[in-house]
Amino acid sequence: MKYDLRKLPTDRILVSPSVLASDFGRLAEEIARAEQGGADVIHLDVMDGHFVPNISFGPPVIKSIRKVSDMLFDTHLMISEPMRYAKAFADAGCDHLTFHLECPGIGETIDEIRRVGCTVGISLKPATPAEAIFPWLDKIDLVLVMTVEPGFGGQSFMADQMGKVAAIKREILRRKLHVQLEVDGGLDEQTIAAAAGHGANLIVAGTSVFRHPEGIAAAIAKLHAATPLIDTEL
Ligand code: DX5
Ligand code: ZN
Repeated sequence: MKYDLRKLPTDRILVSPSVLASDFGRLAEEIARAEQGGADVIHLDVMDGHFVPNISFGPPVIKSIRKVSDMLFDTHLMISEPMRYAKAFADAGCDHLTFHLECPGIGETIDEIRRVGCTVGISLKPATPAEAIFPWLDKIDLVLVMTVEPGFGGQSFMADQMGKVAAIKREILRRKLHVQLEVDGGLDEQTIAAAAGHGANLIVAGTSVFRHPEGIAAAIAKLHAATPLIDTEL
C-alpha cells in the first residue's frame, strides 16, 4: 500500500473519478488529467462478468497505470470471489479494496485484505439494507452505498438510497468511527446535494467528470463545492 485511506478526512467532500467513463485508449492521460484537475483519489471499477453482467479490467491494467499515477487507487471489486484475488490486486498496486457485502465469507475477506496490506471497504447493492453492514462497521475503513445497480456507468442516480446513506452515517457518528461513506452511480453536480446532505463524503463520479462539457477540472471543482453534512442531526 502506497497511500493510506485512513489519513483522509471524513468531514469534507472528496472526489473519486471513475475511470470506467474515460477513454481506455488514453488511460494514462485521462488519469493524469483527473489528478491535475483536483481528484482526491481515483476509482477503479473491476468487473468479472459474473458478479455483474459486464467485464472491465483487472490486475495487469492496474499494474500499468500504477507506474504512471501517483494517486490512491480506490478499487471497487465487483467480483464474485474477492478473497481469492485480493493479493493480486495488492501486488498490482492497489491501496484500497472495496468488495461487496453480497459475496460469501465477509470476515475472511476483511482479514485477507488486511493481510495483503490494503485498507478495507464494503459495498452494498441497492436491495441490501443499511443494517446488514452494522456488524462489520468497526472492522472496516469505508462503506460504499451503490446509487445504481452495479455493472455499468452512465445510469440514473437512485434517490431512494438516501435513507440508507443517512442510517449508516448515523451509526458511524454514534460509534465515533473514522469511516469514509462513499456513494457511487449517477453522481453529478445536481445529485451530489442529496448524497452529501445525507452524510456521504466520498463521491464517485464517472460520466459527469470524464465527459463534462467544461472539462475534468471544472467538473471536479463543481463537485467539491457541495456542502458536506456537518451536524449530527440526521
Ligand atoms: C457502476 C460503477 C460506477 C460507475 C459510475 O457499476 O461502480 O463506479 O462507473 O459511473 P457514473 O458516474 O457514470 O454513474
Ligand atoms: Zn464503482
